[in-house]
Amino acid sequence: MKKMITLNINNQEYDLVIPVNRTLTQVLRENLKLTGTKQGCSVGDCGSCTVLMDGQPVNSCLVLAVEAEGRAIQTIEGLAEDGKLHPIQQAFVDQGSIQCGFCSPGMILSAKALLDKNPSPTGPEIREAISGNLCRCTGYQKIVDAIESVTQK
Ligand code: FES
Ligand code: FES
Repeated sequence: MKKMITLNINNQEYDLVIPVNRTLTQVLRENLKLTGTKQGCSVGDCGSCTVLMDGQPVNSCLVLAVEAEGRAIQTIEGLAEDGKLHPIQQAFVDQGSIQCGFCSPGMILSAKALLDKNPSPTGPEIREAISGNLCRCTGYQKIVDAIESVTQK
């Protein structure tokens, strides 16, 4: 069964007719070509598909696109402004926190959700906030360092 929906993604409205069982990850990547959101495990374990829904990080592989209607969705494509990276993105670049980059969009969005509600998190709070995001490459320390570098301390 298909349904017509309107999604608000990065402050832009998209009208779509999609099967009701299509996940938000699939719609972002395949229908809208917003491929910054990565699909890893597809079962909620890796966090690579993390997007913000009304400011909260969610695994978009576990959200049906029809459930996202009426919610504000933010993806990694929505972070840079006027061609300038968001400070968290820039910190990831500067601190060498990106290797293969597969986890980076989800990590950065989880970090953004944390810093939006708590601009001065402790190290353990940062680690807790990204605990749902797996990284195979960096060993996490550089990621934590990058997030720490943009906290207001
Ligand atoms: S792809 Fe969604 S949590 Fe792994
Ligand atoms: S940088 Fe490769 S998975 Fe994190």
